[in-house]
Amino acid sequence: MTDSALAHAAQQISDTQRNVPQIRAFFDQETFTVTYAVHDPETMKAAIIDSVFDFDPASGRTSFDSADEVIAYVKEHGLSVEWLLETHAHADHLSAAPYLQEKLGGKIAIGEHIVTVQEVFGKLFNAGTEFQRDGSDFDHLFADGDTFNIGNLDVTVMHVPGHTPACIAYVIGDAVFIGDTMFMPDYGSARADFPGGDARQLYRSMRRLLSLPDTTRLFMCHDYLPEGRNEYVWETTVEEERKGNIHAHDGVSEDEFVKMRTERDKTLDMPRLILPSVQVNMRAGHLPPEEDNGMRYLKVPLNGV
Ligand SMILES: [Fe+2]
Repeated sequence: MTDSALAHAAQQISDTQRNVPQIRAFFDQETFTVTYAVHDPETMKAAIIDSVFDFDPASGRTSFDSADEVIAYVKEHGLSVEWLLETHAHADHLSAAPYLQEKLGGKIAIGEHIVTVQEVFGKLFNAGTEFQRDGSDFDHLFADGDTFNIGNLDVTVMHVPGHTPACIAYVIGDAVFIGDTMFMPDYGSARADFPGGDARQLYRSMRRLLSLPDTTRLFMCHDYLPEGRNEYVWETTVEEERKGNIHAHDGVSEDEFVKMRTERDKTLDMPRLILPSVQVNMRAGHLPPEEDNGMRYLKVPLNGV
């Protein structure tokens, strides 16, 4: 079977004549998340990928410090934001996409399989009928192989499920924002035990990304410090991952990966912010509606996950 999205992405990456985005990363040390501002240097049109809305679970206080840093950068460089892109519904940080949209404009987008995620978490949080679960909280839903432009930059979307059913990677010019599929070679891969996650699918998604040209630049959504490294990094290449990814380098079979991933996932604690994150991120980063006293609340389902 030919993989037209992959072929299209590979072709796009090779066309570096018109396809080299400017990329600025913002690292949030609280959640180990990397937010990217990506722009076309010719037109200054931009996208923000995987933004962070700061949240302290102990006090319930929120802040926009992380997002404000991105806004300052956008203003300083005179960028015009067209898209607020999510690689998936994150379970470890809240999205600041609605705040960025209010301040900078742009459309909030995610993969079309978000409806599966909305269904699961809508039920878990008993979200009621005001929560549509049809993706309409987002401005746009992307399918595998969809293409669009940011200024003169070509963008191809690849559906890369496994960590969650809705994960997508954005191939922007010659750079790929891979979300939580792989991490840096010395950290390996994302967990596949969230609802709708699947280690076998994750392996196939990773191998699909690793069939892009060797020199393709890959940008992580997170970095953690593995033993032996004391600096956060978030950019690597297909070649480096194929050679050295500790979970999925060339030569690791699907069954070997699935066994490793499944055993490892059993040992992992739930992310600190999973319950707040999914409640907000399933609504495209919007908080749950106000109650009749004008306050908003996040729920904790007891023994629900
Ligand atoms: Fe994630």
